[in-house]
Amino acid sequence: MTARTHTIAIERAAQSKLAATDLNNLQFGRTFTDHMLVATYDEGAWQDVKIQPYGALAMSPSISALHYGQAVFEGMKAYKNAAGEALLFRPHANHARINQSAARLCMPPIPDEVFIDGLLELVRLDADWIPTRAGSALYLRPIYFASDESVGLRPSERYTFAVIACPVNSYYAEPVKLTVTRDYVRAFAGGTGAAKAAGNYAASLLADREAKARGFDNVLWLDGKEQRYIEECGTMNVFFTIDDVVVTPKLSGSILPGITRDSIIKLLPTLGVKVEERTIAIDELAAAFRAGQLQEAFGAGTAATIAQIASIQFDDLTIALPPVADRPYSSVLATVLSEIKTGCRADEFGWMVRV
Ligand SMILES: Cc1ncc(COP(=O)(O)O)c(C=O)c1O
Repeated sequence: MTARTHTIAIERAAQSKLAATDLNNLQFGRTFTDHMLVATYDEGAWQDVKIQPYGALAMSPSISALHYGQAVFEGMKAYKNAAGEALLFRPHANHARINQSAARLCMPPIPDEVFIDGLLELVRLDADWIPTRAGSALYLRPIYFASDESVGLRPSERYTFAVIACPVNSYYAEPVKLTVTRDYVRAFAGGTGAAKAAGNYAASLLADREAKARGFDNVLWLDGKEQRYIEECGTMNVFFTIDDVVVTPKLSGSILPGITRDSIIKLLPTLGVKVEERTIAIDELAAAFRAGQLQEAFGAGTAATIAQIASIQFDDLTIALPPVADRPYSSVLATVLSEIKTGCRADEFGWMVRV
């Protein structure tokens, strides 16, 4: 166990909002628990790590995150097992990723005692907010941003780290319709695509809005250079089953290294399924579809979990995927993952961390 060098001060909410919240009827990301974690990095050290009632943070309009976008975040979930114990799914992986994202944006790493201990303490305090209905969880959103009060382009010297928590139900109720965009790119080699940087999401919004206006749920991004190789969606990595092999784009430096993606790559072989990480050209997918070899397609992410893909629009072609009931692996995979997360299945990889 890590020695705790930061005492986490706790200020409890005067009154809980839980009794007035319907945990079975939630709009994603609109309901927040009673508390949040807030920590500050200043003068080369982490300080003031505290849990306080959820609410506004006071900040100056000069903070550099607002001007230069030095801001990264994470997304992870807490579940409850049948005994009512709270469990976090792979928090150390999120911790490693936020520090990789931070390094790319010239931000100092967040230590274990702030990220992991802070999360555990917050979830412990708000554990009653973890919904238990199938497909529900407590979504945790760590945010980390530059909070120097000064205008001028340079890495900030002051940072704020916070964690807020939202009880959530399923993100997508129905299989999603994707479209490939030729007009925009999300990321490119040497850029920030592999970091969970706030700016990546801002850059994706216009394409997303245009896709939605045309009746699609999400954009399927291609590589930024040739516009030929499949990368990922705005909030999830993608998988395709072609001739009984599950394939997913390899990490090219411009794709977010998803923790759900990594979990699937580790789980599939234990279920006797072959998985490959490699480049997949959109033309290859179209050819597999035309040849009747494309058996399923799904997205994978913390919020989306396993999201079935109904169709992919690519230029004049609509790649229509088989009905969900006919798909060979994705439903089984979704069940296995959810059973591990809720403690109903042996956690062979040691992914779950008890709160
Ligand atoms: C761009 C992008 N790709 C993939 C993912 C999936 O990553 P994870 O499984 O770690 O949630 C996410 C969600 O976090 C994302 O925002």
